Amino acid sequence: MENSLLTLHNRRILLGITGGIAAYKGAELTRRLQDQGADVRVIMTRSATEFITPLTMQALSKHPVHLDLHNPDTESVMGHIELARWADLVLIAPASANFLARLAHGHGDDLLTAVCLAAECPVAIAPAMNQAMWAKSPTQKNRALLVERGIHFLGPDSGIQACGEVGAGRLLDIEALLIGASNLFASGRLQGKTVLITAGPTREAIDPVRFISNHSSGKQGYALASAAVDAGARVILVSGPTALTAPERVDLVKVTSAQDMHEAVQARLPETDIMIGVAAVSDYRPRMVETQKIKKGQCGERTLTLELVENPDIIAEAAKHPNAPFTVGFAAETENLENYAKRKLLEKNLAMIVANNVANSQIGFNSDANATTIFWAGGEINIPMMSKRALSERLISIIADRIEAAS
Ligand SMILES: Cc1cc2nc3c(=O)[nH]c(=O)nc-3n(C[C@H](O)[C@H](O)[C@H](O)COP(=O)(O)O)c2cc1C
Repeated sequence: MENSLLTLHNRRILLGITGGIAAYKGAELTRRLQDQGADVRVIMTRSATEFITPLTMQALSKHPVHLDLHNPDTESVMGHIELARWADLVLIAPASANFLARLAHGHGDDLLTAVCLAAECPVAIAPAMNQAMWAKSPTQKNRALLVERGIHFLGPDSGIQACGEVGAGRLLDIEALLIGASNLFASGRLQGKTVLITAGPTREAIDPVRFISNHSSGKQGYALASAAVDAGARVILVSGPTALTAPERVDLVKVTSAQDMHEAVQARLPETDIMIGVAAVSDYRPRMVETQKIKKGQCGERTLTLELVENPDIIAEAAKHPNAPFTVGFAAETENLENYAKRKLLEKNLAMIVANNVANSQIGFNSDANATTIFWAGGEINIPMMSKRALSERLISIIADRIEAAS
């Protein structure tokens, strides 16, 4: 196999092992995932511990094995929600018939099912069981329910089974599991590309203590940065002031004003293949920045007039740069969304524009969800309300589609 084709490097894989005879193969799988540069953490069901010891899996993964949902120690360090958030992929291999049934029916009464329910990343299941168990209608119905819910199945394979029977139900071989897991990352799709993302608000100084800004939280830009990393890209995140922690594996460039952001972007355009301008950049800044704090009544008037001048149009300038990247703009509007977005697409010469209605507080600046319409020359796609992270995955894959269509 061409290992270089795999895109598991730096991937965080939460490996779930359930109670089946193939549980021992979880040990080899862990090693092989690590050989590909993946960071592997392990959850075992109680039944799995009858087949392979947590100590073995701990020694191989080099991390404590997670066993229990109700564990005060792990819940304060890395509980089920943190584990779900940590993972780029939850891979259950081997998955028992019993586990499929629990997951298909929405149970969350053990750590592995609770993590699967909480996970927003892809979940992949590699079943392994006796061929009759696999063929039985409850198992097949559970499989169909899980597929319908977007859960990926890797295998099972056919052949001789541990019980001596022949048929479908064997755990897929490790090589096939590695390829299957690798293919699941929307990734690879932006492998070798440098993506520059601007995020957050800008601050335009009025005097040493005051500024003009907006309500942008940076959440959408940071979520996109993380999705682009997952898609295999090198990511430069040029961020205005936010309360967020930058995703791991991005080159973070902190800026304050629109002019700072403009300079930071211009300096990096020659190395950029895709630029996504998510930042809510102030259109204007005060012409004069007072060197001392403006005092109340300083001008002998009850009013104070600030003269504003236009800031550079960061995204439009990127799109007309001699080495213009594939440039994606965001249009945050409170009215006439479609008209304004389409006009921006044309006037700024963008490859794509993502329009969202910030007047709706459910999907606005500070919310965790978003809903958008994406426009490009000759096409548009509506993305219903979903988490900013899920929307980012969709957007990255739409960008990859457009780039592939153009090449
Ligand atoms: C020796 C032995 C081997 C088993 N092998 C399998 C198996 O390969 N696949 C399976 O689905 N169940 C198998 N089972 C049954 C599961 O262990 C049982 O359904 C268990 O409750 C699964 O728990 P879990 O899904 O929480 O891990 C086996 C049981 C025993 C005793």
